[in-house]
Amino acid sequence: MSIAHDCGIQSTSHRYFMPLAFTLVIVASASAQRPPSDTGFANRRATRLADSLLALMTLEEKLGQLTQTPAGFGQTGPTVDAGGEQMVRDGKLGSFLNLYGADVTRRMQRIAVEESRLHIPLILGFDVIHGMRTIFPVPLATAGSFDSSAAARAARIAAVEATAMGVHWTFAPMVDIARDARWGRIVEGAGEDPYLGSVMAAAQVRGFQGDNLRAPTSVLATMKHFAAYGGAEAGRDYNVVSVSERDLWNVYLPPFHAAVRAGVGAVMPSFNEINGTPSHANDWLLTDVLRKYWHFGGMVVSDWSAIMELMQHGLGDSVTVATRALHAGVDMEMSSALYRNKLATEVRAGRVPKSLVDSAVVHILRVKAALGLFDDPYRGSSTERERANILTAEHRKAAREIAREAIVLLTNRTVGGAPALPLRRDLRSLAVIGALAVDSASALGAWHGIGRKEDAVTVLDGLRRALPNVAISYAAGVPLDTVRVEGPVSTPGITEAEQLARSADAIILVLGETGDMSGEAASRTSVELPGAQLQLAQAVVRAARASNPTKVVIAVLMNGRPLAVQWLADSTSALVESWHLGVEHGNALADILLGDYAPSGKLPVSVPRVTGQLPIYYNHKNTGRPPSEREKWNSKYIDAPWTPLFPFGHGLSYTTFGYTNLRLSRSTLRGSDSVTLTVDLTNTGKRAGTEVAQLYLRDDAASVTRPVRELRGFHRVTLQPGQSETVSFRLGPDDFAFYDRDMRRVVEPGGFTVWVGESSAATLEGHFTVTGGVTVLAPAPPRFR
Ligand code: NOJ
Repeated sequence: MSIAHDCGIQSTSHRYFMPLAFTLVIVASASAQRPPSDTGFANRRATRLADSLLALMTLEEKLGQLTQTPAGFGQTGPTVDAGGEQMVRDGKLGSFLNLYGADVTRRMQRIAVEESRLHIPLILGFDVIHGMRTIFPVPLATAGSFDSSAAARAARIAAVEATAMGVHWTFAPMVDIARDARWGRIVEGAGEDPYLGSVMAAAQVRGFQGDNLRAPTSVLATMKHFAAYGGAEAGRDYNVVSVSERDLWNVYLPPFHAAVRAGVGAVMPSFNEINGTPSHANDWLLTDVLRKYWHFGGMVVSDWSAIMELMQHGLGDSVTVATRALHAGVDMEMSSALYRNKLATEVRAGRVPKSLVDSAVVHILRVKAALGLFDDPYRGSSTERERANILTAEHRKAAREIAREAIVLLTNRTVGGAPALPLRRDLRSLAVIGALAVDSASALGAWHGIGRKEDAVTVLDGLRRALPNVAISYAAGVPLDTVRVEGPVSTPGITEAEQLARSADAIILVLGETGDMSGEAASRTSVELPGAQLQLAQAVVRAARASNPTKVVIAVLMNGRPLAVQWLADSTSALVESWHLGVEHGNALADILLGDYAPSGKLPVSVPRVTGQLPIYYNHKNTGRPPSEREKWNSKYIDAPWTPLFPFGHGLSYTTFGYTNLRLSRSTLRGSDSVTLTVDLTNTGKRAGTEVAQLYLRDDAASVTRPVRELRGFHRVTLQPGQSETVSFRLGPDDFAFYDRDMRRVVEPGGFTVWVGESSAATLEGHFTVTGGVTVLAPAPPRFR
């Protein structure tokens, strides 16, 4: 009989609770937690080089290496003033950020390697987040392709363009898990799921860094923001994060660990505090976990002025905070210059050990060596290479292909006997309504490198190119105001839109957020449509339906966070999530709307019905009172459903898919074993399409509470009408494991449930049982402090 039963605890259907006195089976020791290598930064050559330089450096030169300063911005691009140049000449600067362009970067590098005493090259960093000049979909959108090769491809092309312009280092990927869409930076990451987040993190690292970091087209990647930045209270950027040690390891840290295992070369701590310690002063995070437990061999760069901001956090004066950050493990200081200005006196007085400075310098010099900067400080950047590599037709083609995969078809109703989408090509007229339809800057999204709005194809342009014989009219309707307007609105803009809606054969309403409504310092208290866009949509749908009850009205969203759009979902003919897709936005969207490409994107985040549901995520815990309509006393709301408007993983296509015949290679296994799950996936519709088959797992009963389900695998499968394919997933100890009460990573015996299907709401289920004792995959990591 189970202990759960013994104690009168009601377990869920699957019967088993771990007997406490079971034998431990250790299948992996702590050292097996190491990444495959030390990521190559501490190799013998780099270490020898760093050590020999260190022996020659003055304290001022060392502190200079630990300093990164922003370039200025002139009329034609980034500049460095005379003071900056002199610092380079004096060996008092290790790095610039925001300096790009072959001419200026070569000029500064030449000063560093020819005019400074020790000829140490600069390392030049820039935020190449989703493209340098060829802008790809925002990272949240690319995550929705569930296609790691797409993420890697976008990063690779970004690296090719950035390095041509003399950039060595990108502050990407951002791998923060975000469960609260009010937080504007949700746009920069892969969404709410640690598994998808880990896959996308590793893919981007591989894409940026390439096979060989020394290659002139590789950029050093930075995983950020370490850690739990996405947990900002109330979704307010930079805010305090309250997170348990267990959630930190189960939810927030896995994508970082995946990036380290993929060989990421740099880490940026987060602005927030956890457990009373801001990340930039957190030796547990930056040294115990990152360096000692994960064996990270690269360098740690602060976020912008974040060392100085430790004073605002309340940790003390400038000397104290600089010392805390250095001691915690921050190697390079971005933007503020406390290391350079405050630490020399402290080191000379013996209050700060010289060894701390030395080890930070070594980390930076080793990374410079790994990038090949001591062999070719210019890494082949040149104006010719810029001309040949930037915004090429091939890069644009990739941007269009990736953008198509990212678009999510949320609803598609049958109107007049046929699905609203794809659009009929024999329309005589089409009305495109909404200011975002012509907003090329917003197509690029937040953090768009050096992308230019004139490079971007707008929704209106894309449709006009694709439908040269259709009369396409456009009206903005309402301005794109940030604050949501309540109550009825009547304006000349809305009247104009209503007129178009009455006269056109079909309507495309383009609604959502401008590019700067998400990203850094762009949190919102509401995730509903900003401004008066809802009123515009309601007026347009009313006018269209009054003129013809079966008129097709398609709503297309452009946005950097999931939006609560219940009314649009209920009242339009089809709803399409296009996020901000980059330079090929309009073309990719036209490909989807006209059916040249069948939608295959899935939601990387749950979409709430109302803001008040936030934070909302599919892999939540069950609680003792799981929500149900049957009675009052359970975990729900009295004014809105508890369920999301659209679940994580949701996304339709122009065909349909059926999942049948779930088989497991075994029904019982030991915790160190694997099981293979297969399912038959059939294209049950009338046209070809690609489905993302998703596998979710639940540990039915465990010594600590576990999520109701968690993504553990996915496959993109393309099928012709009527075609079937057997899709298989292999699940092993790492998939079953979690952190137990003692923070050991374990697999506990007992029942597991798996679901396979089209989203996190998949219903086709199977079961297996882990027998034997507790399998310990790893002892407890360094304890949280
Ligand atoms: C602040 C942001 O938090 C970080 O992500 C970015 O890399 C730096 N600024 C540099 O622009």
